[in-house]
Amino acid sequence: MMKQTEPHILVIFGASGDLTKRKLIPALYELHTQQLLPEKLAVLGVSRTELSDAGFREKMKEFLSIQPHNEKDIEAFLEHLYYQPLSTADSSEYPILKSRLETLGKELSIPENYIYYLSTPPNLYQIIPQSLAEVGLNDAKNGFKRLIIEKPFGTDLKSAQELNKNLRNYFDEDQLYRIDHYLGKETVQNMLVTRFSNGIFEPIWNHNFIHHIEITSAETLGVEDRGGYYDHSGAMRDMVQNHLMQLVGMVAMEPPVVIEADAIRNEILKVFQSLRPISEAEVASHVIRGQYTQSHIGKELVKGYREESGVDRQSRTETFVAMKFFIDNFRWAGVPFYIRTGKKLPARVTEVVIHFKNTPHHLFGNQADTGPVNNQLVLRIQPDEGILLKIGMKVPGAGFRVQTVNMDFHYDQLSDVYLPTAYGRLLLDCMQGDATLYARGDAVEKAWEYVQPILNAWKNNHEIPIYGYPAGTWGPDVVDELVESGTWRYPCKNLAHDGEYCEL
Ligand code: BG6
Repeated sequence: MMKQTEPHILVIFGASGDLTKRKLIPALYELHTQQLLPEKLAVLGVSRTELSDAGFREKMKEFLSIQPHNEKDIEAFLEHLYYQPLSTADSSEYPILKSRLETLGKELSIPENYIYYLSTPPNLYQIIPQSLAEVGLNDAKNGFKRLIIEKPFGTDLKSAQELNKNLRNYFDEDQLYRIDHYLGKETVQNMLVTRFSNGIFEPIWNHNFIHHIEITSAETLGVEDRGGYYDHSGAMRDMVQNHLMQLVGMVAMEPPVVIEADAIRNEILKVFQSLRPISEAEVASHVIRGQYTQSHIGKELVKGYREESGVDRQSRTETFVAMKFFIDNFRWAGVPFYIRTGKKLPARVTEVVIHFKNTPHHLFGNQADTGPVNNQLVLRIQPDEGILLKIGMKVPGAGFRVQTVNMDFHYDQLSDVYLPTAYGRLLLDCMQGDATLYARGDAVEKAWEYVQPILNAWKNNHEIPIYGYPAGTWGPDVVDELVESGTWRYPCKNLAHDGEYCEL
């Protein structure tokens, strides 16, 4: 049964910022075209820039792809948008916001249901919730009050704990929605369905049958215009601590009792609690960091990371991380997990690869060209979303030659099914009060606790190398040494292309 979306006002702080234009407004428009928005909805943009409602609508329109056939639709959508200039960092101005919300609510007959989206720099994560609370805008007596925040949720364990403490001074945990847009990806959610709805996978999803698990999140882009932010962050904070850890949670968790926010989030937390800590002394051997250097990709000369704008010329910030770790529990005892992520790699691909153990006896060993079959299940998160299973098959003809073949499913085969974008899906969930796909505070802290010794070791011990890798390659060569038996999979854009033919 479809859940109901109650009438509400969505307040976007930082409405003149990049995220609002690039992600939020297009996601809301997408929900509008799918008729998923409540009829009674106001989206109130808030930021310092002086703008009228009409001016805000005009500005936001530029970011919607306008084709002649949808002009009317866009106009109808824009009518939901309103704007309030406000110095968000100045708590004395919040009464203005409060009275604007009251007026809007009266005009549009919307009850006091408010969602606050903090699409602002993180230094405002303290003052905005506090200022809202000071004028009673956190009070859920006459309608829900929910707060959505974007990462970074702190920059280390200590600041993450402080942030959570501060948020919880003004809002209860069940009013807090911490966005991790990876959880909004349809293919990430499908990992739960693959695992828990198929009788053939779950029984073998453990150390008895799985040899190792590999997670790759590769990007072709560099830091683009985000050098200033990224140079203080690096791949560990930017990707591993949040998105990749959440993927680990989804692959490794125990079946939840029900598909509900707390049931699922409890299981993810348990995975994080079972991670075998990597001590500062082990960092050099378990975690490899790299930074892209100038190189030629085709005919183009591509900048190295240190030449990017906003980046320190001597920067030791990692744009690549590969690591090996273990989950110490019954299911995963002894199974190595490998994670790899980086910028300026040859392909934009995110996928999870389950490598199964070989058969106990290689009956066809002496005739095979390639050794025993390495069964793999590839869960492709993006692009060419789908699933691929590699199995051995007899090559027709005399004898018993075995070849590995692919069985693959691609989401685009479901041509008439609408695949929501991550932001669209997550916004709708929050509107319906469903926090399942949002990160919970305790899990965020646990993930920080896990990566903190790695960050400490890198900061304190300059002996730990940061390897250069030419832009456009799969990272430093030493990464191969992490995987003791076997190699990384080198994925292509197309899920089923590998080996001889690879389009990047
Ligand atoms: C963001 C990171 O959270 O995720 C970016 O800050 C990264 O650096 C992005 O590029 C990757 O997201 P996606 O959806 O393109 O894989």
